[in-house]
Amino acid sequence: MARYFRGDRRPASEVGGVLVPVDAESLARAGALLRAGGLVAFPTETVYGLGANALDAVAVARIFEAKGRPAFDPLIVHVTGAAMLATVVRDVPDLGRRLIERFWPGPLTLVLEKSEAVPDIVSAGLPTVGVRSPAHPAARALIEAAGVPVAAPSANRFGGLSPTRAEHVAAQLGDAVDTILDAGPTAHGIESTIVLVAGGLLALLRHGALPLELLETVTGPLPDATTPGPERASLPLAPGQLPAHYAPRTPLCIVEPESVPLAERTRAGLLAFRRPVDERDYAAVRVLSAEGDLREAAAALFGALHELDALGLERIDAQPVPQTGVGRAIADRLRRAAFR
Ligand code: TXA
Ligand code: MG
Repeated sequence: MARYFRGDRRPASEVGGVLVPVDAESLARAGALLRAGGLVAFPTETVYGLGANALDAVAVARIFEAKGRPAFDPLIVHVTGAAMLATVVRDVPDLGRRLIERFWPGPLTLVLEKSEAVPDIVSAGLPTVGVRSPAHPAARALIEAAGVPVAAPSANRFGGLSPTRAEHVAAQLGDAVDTILDAGPTAHGIESTIVLVAGGLLALLRHGALPLELLETVTGPLPDATTPGPERASLPLAPGQLPAHYAPRTPLCIVEPESVPLAERTRAGLLAFRRPVDERDYAAVRVLSAEGDLREAAAALFGALHELDALGLERIDAQPVPQTGVGRAIADRLRRAAFR
């Protein structure tokens, strides 16, 4: 079977037996595949992940190969609870414990000091490792079935759009994966929030599905390492958070549609945050949330981008979103998608 590249879209029926519904049998088989060094794409509450046994360096190398991911970009390790966490980290500071108590399982990744058991390829040579305990029952059941922590980046080609449906994974990674567990669209539609709590440092490394306002009820004011600025200078970067990221193949501009002349709309698509919006003459329109609900918009974001990207348009005009709650994560993804 041909290998499918970034952005190619194939209907699930064409990808044959790779997509399988989640049930007891498929979970047991996928768990065994992971233990044997295989690659399994699986749903989480944020986006679909491309999983391998986190303790098996050769299996993890297959993730980098399948995604075309550079070796400097570390992976997140998925665990189901405290016992498994203890095998991959050296120490969990007090604040880390409080964050875990409050937000796990859920869309929060903690960057902690890693243990010897975690191969360097997982952490891209860093002394730290990103860990999260997903809330999605299929993700939890898979990790339990595997009996090992599961390293998993988002299941897209490097730099491309994150997958919020199993079909997005099939279209981008095709036969590079051994199986894709299909549980329909993901709930949050945007990746986990990442916080560094290691080596006496505390910093926000990535905006994500867990809103900053909620996080800060536990951490207090959180130093922001996600964007360049004076505050950033003394903080470490999250290696994979490149200026250009989460990008459709179609060029994307962040612009209020009201300011785009009608004549410039006919070969462009509009990614609107809410209604009402001036959508006259656009070749295609996707509205993320008619009522302007940020969570609904986040859940719809990547799906809408995948759809617009498949239409062969000249440009996608993305309406700005309010930078509050999960709107910060949406704005961050749009900014990186627009960077050329
Ligand atoms: O929601 C999510 O987090 C999804 C699902 C599958 O769990 N995963 C995900 O993984 O978004 P990925 O590989 O697309 O993003 C992982 C990012 C890296 O690019 C890097 O920015 C950060 O997590 N990261 C991982 N380990 C790190 C470390 N030790 N230090 C700093 N940043 C780290
Ligand atoms: Mg990713």
